Amino acid sequence: MYETIQSPIRFGRIELKNRIIFAPTTFGVSQEEYIEKIRKIAAGGCAMIIIGDVPVCKGGFGISLYTKKGFAFYQTLAETVHTYHCKICAQLHQSDSDWKAMVRCVLGVLLKRISMDDLRIKLQEAVSPYITNMPLKKVRKITKSFGTAAKLAQQAGFDMVQVHGDRMCGSFASAVYNHRQDAYGGTLKKRARFLLEAVSAVRKAIPEISIDVKLPIRMGQYGKAGFLQEDLSVILPLLERAGADSFHVTLANHDDLENTIPPANHVAFGQEGCFLPFCDAVKQYTKKPVCGVGGLTQPDFVEQQLKSGRIDCAAMSRQLLADSDWPKKVMAGEVNQIRHCVRCNRECLGGLQRHTGTHCIYEKGAKSV
Ligand SMILES: Cc1cc2nc3c(=O)[nH]c(=O)nc-3n(C[C@H](O)[C@H](O)[C@H](O)COP(=O)(O)O)c2cc1C
Ligand code: SF4
Repeated sequence: MYETIQSPIRFGRIELKNRIIFAPTTFGVSQEEYIEKIRKIAAGGCAMIIIGDVPVCKGGFGISLYTKKGFAFYQTLAETVHTYHCKICAQLHQSDSDWKAMVRCVLGVLLKRISMDDLRIKLQEAVSPYITNMPLKKVRKITKSFGTAAKLAQQAGFDMVQVHGDRMCGSFASAVYNHRQDAYGGTLKKRARFLLEAVSAVRKAIPEISIDVKLPIRMGQYGKAGFLQEDLSVILPLLERAGADSFHVTLANHDDLENTIPPANHVAFGQEGCFLPFCDAVKQYTKKPVCGVGGLTQPDFVEQQLKSGRIDCAAMSRQLLADSDWPKKVMAGEVNQIRHCVRCNRECLGGLQRHTGTHCIYEKGAKSV
């Protein structure tokens, strides 16, 4: 049973012991708590953990690879994960939030004239002018920093890097946000240039490292950043040429977070494996491994998707928050012991949004059990 889930795979340039990957997940908890949560997930038997939102620039949001303390933190994470013969991947990201727009809102937030929801809307509105008017020198500095950050990540012990194709890469790629008229805007190829340069910078800095690309796809009313499905025939060969070894495919960002992290009652993405049709589209144009993500919880379903070759690996965020031992239990044939994620978003996304940290209803002491 579940032979494919258990089978090793060459994913890009590394060997994975099975097909289950912990999807990038921001926790918003103390560093000690974070290390313990990641340790538990590694102990549960998955083959690789993707550490979400590792900033590529000095002074970016999140724990920095550039400071002694931040670097030591990532080293500890890598050592902890490796203890369980699990691989670790750094998701390299650059936020597209405009600091200046944020600073302008600070007083309003402090005086409670601007709610957190209003702040989110104002920051969204600031993305397009920020991307469109960014000076060329700054653009090149950021794309180059993907290489520098990748080198530091490798030195800290990461086995692989994932270039976060959303956030700033995705905003540059999108005609909705990017209205530049220079080499980084206009045609699809010009809009994709930011992401392509980021991937090339990593490849140039570390010729041998495995590079995964989180590939955001927008569809109709869903998502504002990233690429359209009709862009894929052009983009995938360019990404491969730039150095991409594998793809992590999902819905693009920049609308309601409940679209990219959909609850079970979501009108379009409520079903198991909700974003896999995007993987079908990607598979038409690449032979590189493709990792699916989004509402993957049921062992039978996951096995079937892997076995049919629809996806090469299955990434899970919420299911491994609900039960980190999902891989171990599946491999031991104890599927009836699994605590299934019910896709309620109450304590994971909900916790993150309430600034109380990413948790799960199954955790002891969770408010909404
Ligand atoms: C609490 C939480 C935090 C997340 N943080 C990140 C992140 O830092 N980077 C990212 O690319 N995706 C992030 N995601 C999205 C997940 O990687 C994944 O794509 C999404 O949750 C759908 O998969 P799932 O149904 O297995 O949860 C986050 C998801 C959750 C629930
Ligand atoms: S809180 Fe709900 S959606 Fe989030 S991981 Fe737990 S069961 Fe899944």
